Amino acid sequence: MAEIALTGIKPTGIPHIGNYLGMIKPALELAQTYRALYFIADYHALTTERDPKNIHRQIYEVAATWLALGLDPEKVVFFRQSDVPEVFELAWILACLTSKGLLNRAHAYKAAVEDNIRQGRSEDTNISAGLFNYPILMAADILLFGTHWVPVGQDQKQHVEIARDIASGFNSHYGKVFKIPEALIRKDVKNVPGIDGRKMSKTYKNTIPIFADSKVTHQQVMRIITDSKPPEAPKDPEACILFTLYRHFAPSEAANLTRIRYLKGGIRYSDIKKELIKLLLEKFGENRKTYENLVKDKRIIEQILKRGAGTARLIAKPILSEVRRKIGIALT
Ligand code: TRP
Repeated sequence: MAEIALTGIKPTGIPHIGNYLGMIKPALELAQTYRALYFIADYHALTTERDPKNIHRQIYEVAATWLALGLDPEKVVFFRQSDVPEVFELAWILACLTSKGLLNRAHAYKAAVEDNIRQGRSEDTNISAGLFNYPILMAADILLFGTHWVPVGQDQKQHVEIARDIASGFNSHYGKVFKIPEALIRKDVKNVPGIDGRKMSKTYKNTIPIFADSKVTHQQVMRIITDSKPPEAPKDPEACILFTLYRHFAPSEAANLTRIRYLKGGIRYSDIKKELIKLLLEKFGENRKTYENLVKDKRIIEQILKRGAGTARLIAKPILSEVRRKIGIALT
């Protein structure tokens, strides 16, 4: 049986080309080699998203994006976290075995505390127990399925390490049940710049959405920040946000030629922007119809996710039963 690669996708915000390059594309490639379990982490999103309409809409937008970009539900077990109740049972069990100190050291929680202190607030202000327990729910997601590989961005590395710690702790106390997972981090596309040069992220409002209408794509690309060098001046392609984005979508020959033209001088930024718009519309244009149809008729997505959850639960059940036996809750 092929090794399992599992990852969770938080339904927050509309997927953008940073998500595509950093996560969706590599994950779809990985699904060729591994038994892929990809899921919508809706209960993780609840730590930050309290608007029911947003969370509802985003679940379908994210699912539709992955399906439109080629996720094959016949090959990938594609499901929604909240459809697999075993995850939450395991999360509680793991919580009881996890020291609070381990969670105190988690980056996201620590950053929230530090931010409160910096702003002169009490350190617990606006920090939910859900945010604090986030790494435990994530460990449950991973460990419940006997996962070998967890493809994630650099920002999630610590969470996978916490899952490893929790798994080893359980195994050494009760006897081996859990496989120790490993993070699979794609280094080459780690930082996709947004139109202002900071990491592309919905928090910075600097994204280029994947399936926005062409007007939005046009607008966002035109707003990419460039320097004020005249066309004839030689330019450093590596220092140029526009070139970095362009290179991800241009055929390699064209990208090489453009690179040389940057170095020699003679590049007009507005021309590269137009080229990038064309490349993006070509790349995602034909999948846009699929995306729009899926978002319109939620029944297809529902059916796919429900079926995925059925398969996921079949994988989860024997592992959870073993856990229940080991901890003494169920008979051996
Ligand atoms: N925390 C991840 C993120 O913010 C999402 C996630 C939830 C996840 N559960 C997971 C990723 C399990 C990998 C494995 O992107």
